[in-house]
Amino acid sequence: MLKVKSVVKEFSGFRAVDECSFEVEKNTITGLIGPNGAGKTTMFNLIAGSLKLDQGEVYFSEQKVNNFAPHQIARLGLARTFQIPKTLRKMTVLENLMLVPSGQSGENIWNSWFRGAKVENEEKVNAAKAYETLEFLEMEHLADEMAVNLSGGQKKLLELGRALMAEPELILLDEPGAGVNPTLLNKIAENILKLKERGKTILLIEHNMDLIMNICDRVIVMNDGKHLVEGTPAEIKTNPQVLEAYLGEKTA
Ligand SMILES: Nc1ncnc2c1ncn2[C@@H]1O[C@H](COP(=O)(O)OP(=O)(O)O)[C@@H](O)[C@H]1O
Ligand SMILES: [Mg+2]
Repeated sequence: MLKVKSVVKEFSGFRAVDECSFEVEKNTITGLIGPNGAGKTTMFNLIAGSLKLDQGEVYFSEQKVNNFAPHQIARLGLARTFQIPKTLRKMTVLENLMLVPSGQSGENIWNSWFRGAKVENEEKVNAAKAYETLEFLEMEHLADEMAVNLSGGQKKLLELGRALMAEPELILLDEPGAGVNPTLLNKIAENILKLKERGKTILLIEHNMDLIMNICDRVIVMNDGKHLVEGTPAEIKTNPQVLEAYLGEKTA
């Protein structure tokens, strides 16, 4: 589904990602872990097209997508969430979902002038999809709540919902469990497992080791911008190299 080959990204001479390679199998949940500053979020930005690679290759479903623009990669079926949720606070939960761009005719000025009926119909479909997404997340009761009033965990769920509106094949989640209370954390874990049941592929950055160990099929460990090791959660848990990397953690 996803292949990253010898990827390099430098920021003013500092190698944030250093010849990093890994693969993500279709219909799996893969964890991407490593100490702060290991290069995980930078790797997500490179995959999703929000940063340009200095070297290396990224393949999405066998197609080379090096330096595609974010919207081009999104159209191929990739969605991502951010470490800090990007919800639009002055809108309701439902509006936040309905606003996700999806190449509707309403975005085209000519269509909105000449094909009003089509746009209206698409808006209905879009609203139905947004409700369906809320149902999936078990957040229907919050449809008309202003996003600003949500708890941190609920914002994370909404962020996941926004990613799902694009009906992606591969979903990149950056720390979905950060700052989330245990009840909502379980819900996020359940939702990620449900997505896998629906055939989706998930790559997940997370510091909560219980979440990683409970839901991941495979775990990839990054350190100093490099691919350190990978394996099953049980293998990673007992790997001395991983322990050493975390003990040497710098605060980034
Ligand atoms: N835009 C940027 N400019 C300069 N340095 C950056 C930038 N983004 C990330 N870095 C640096 O790259 C390294 C990796 O960061 P990041 O990918 O955010 O790590 P992680 O997500 O694993 O904690 C860190 O040392 C960070 O300070
Ligand atoms: Mg990060």
